[in-house]
Amino acid sequence: MDKFVVKGGRRLEGEVTISGAKNAAVAILPAVILSDEPCVVENVPYISDVRICIHILEEMGAQVEKIGKDAYRIDPTTISKYCVPYEYARKMRASYYFLGALLGKFNKARVSMPGGCPLGDRPIDQHLKAFTALGAEYTLSQGMVDLVADKLTGNQIFFDVVTVGATMNAMLAAVKAEGLTIIENAAKEPHIVDLANFLNSMGANIMGAGTDVIKIRGVEHLHGTTYAVIPDQIEAGTFMVAVAATKGDVLIKNVIPKHLESITKKLEKIGVNIEQFDDSIRVWVDGPLVKTNVKTAPHPGFPTDMQSQIATLLCLAQGTSIITENIWEQRFRYVDELRRMGADITVNGKVALIEGTGKLMGAPVKACDLRAGAALIIAGLAASGVTEIEDIYHIERGYDCMEGKLRALGADIEKVSVPDKTEETKSDSTKAAV
Ligand code: EPZ
Repeated sequence: MDKFVVKGGRRLEGEVTISGAKNAAVAILPAVILSDEPCVVENVPYISDVRICIHILEEMGAQVEKIGKDAYRIDPTTISKYCVPYEYARKMRASYYFLGALLGKFNKARVSMPGGCPLGDRPIDQHLKAFTALGAEYTLSQGMVDLVADKLTGNQIFFDVVTVGATMNAMLAAVKAEGLTIIENAAKEPHIVDLANFLNSMGANIMGAGTDVIKIRGVEHLHGTTYAVIPDQIEAGTFMVAVAATKGDVLIKNVIPKHLESITKKLEKIGVNIEQFDDSIRVWVDGPLVKTNVKTAPHPGFPTDMQSQIATLLCLAQGTSIITENIWEQRFRYVDELRRMGADITVNGKVALIEGTGKLMGAPVKACDLRAGAALIIAGLAASGVTEIEDIYHIERGYDCMEGKLRALGADIEKVSVPDKTEETKSDSTKAAV
């Protein structure tokens, strides 16, 4: 198993380039299945979730060729299997996007339920609501979801909760369904818009992505395309917080400032300076960090995927901050690890009270999920002394060479291999990603 060893106290300075968006790529790669011709997908982050997606496509019979640092040419016309077995689904939660893509193309799909997750309950009732509204029938048995439809017909889908995954899956299943589909109470994240743009570049007819009403007119045929995934809003936000935590000064390149608005506004309230350019932002700190309150919400609200990172920054601010987590019921599990570093945080249900102490101390800690791991790296960068972070496979599922990017900014962070301590230590092939 690998761990990160971080020696704190170094300011981050210089320039960093953000990779493609994980949460867009893990939907766009399965969406290639819907095409009747090969597609090229560019600006794909080199992360383990993407590698698992590629492996699933190859296992199904697609031809996949890596044609550059971050580009893949995928020919889905040779696909002959319509199943994603548990051994893959347990590695990557987003494997449920293969349900929508396979159903949309072949009127059938068999994908393992993704299984447990560090964030708490992860139901798929809204995904199933969308599929059945379009005419599919499902059965759940032995942990597998089986979908079948004689034909898919457009319909109205009103989601009971705002859900990224079900909005994505509804689009994937509806693009070739006969007639008009209207998705209401849709999620509006940037990766929703990116999937819609990708599908439209293949000849789909999707309008309204990015608003809470998405209209899809089914089409017979989807042709090949060449498409570049948008920059990762959460990776950019994570680096913004890392720069603030080390009182650094960094130009963050390959971003879409509009996607970062809620993060930018919150960081400015904390005392961080931010200057926006067309596709980059400069982040620097030249004064004290002050307390603020954060409530996570669906886009364009403050992203839940930035909650653990901003909490770490607020530990370094003066005063008492309040964080309210409105999306996931168990997204404060990183708090115990931050407490080991001297953080003063009290959690009560979905609210965390943070007494800013202005400092953190290095300690051995463990990543419990992708974003919690990123938060612990930020804590280590800002802490006095050495922080060793275990279970970094969580982090490597969603961040493309984070330690290399941080080192280039002056951080003292190394990836160190250590022998497995016990046989029950789980490898990255047995824990679900988030
Ligand atoms: C996506 O998860 C992201 N993952 C998550 O990012 C992110 O936290 C989440 O959206 C919210 O933005 C990917 O895109 C791969 P949801 P998803 O469906 O789609 C409830 C990361 O760190 N719900 O928007 O699974 C659900 O319980 C990860 O990159 C239902 O009730 O999230 C939750 O409370 C972590 N029924 C809320 O909706 C359903 O059928 C939002 O979930 C589906 C969801």
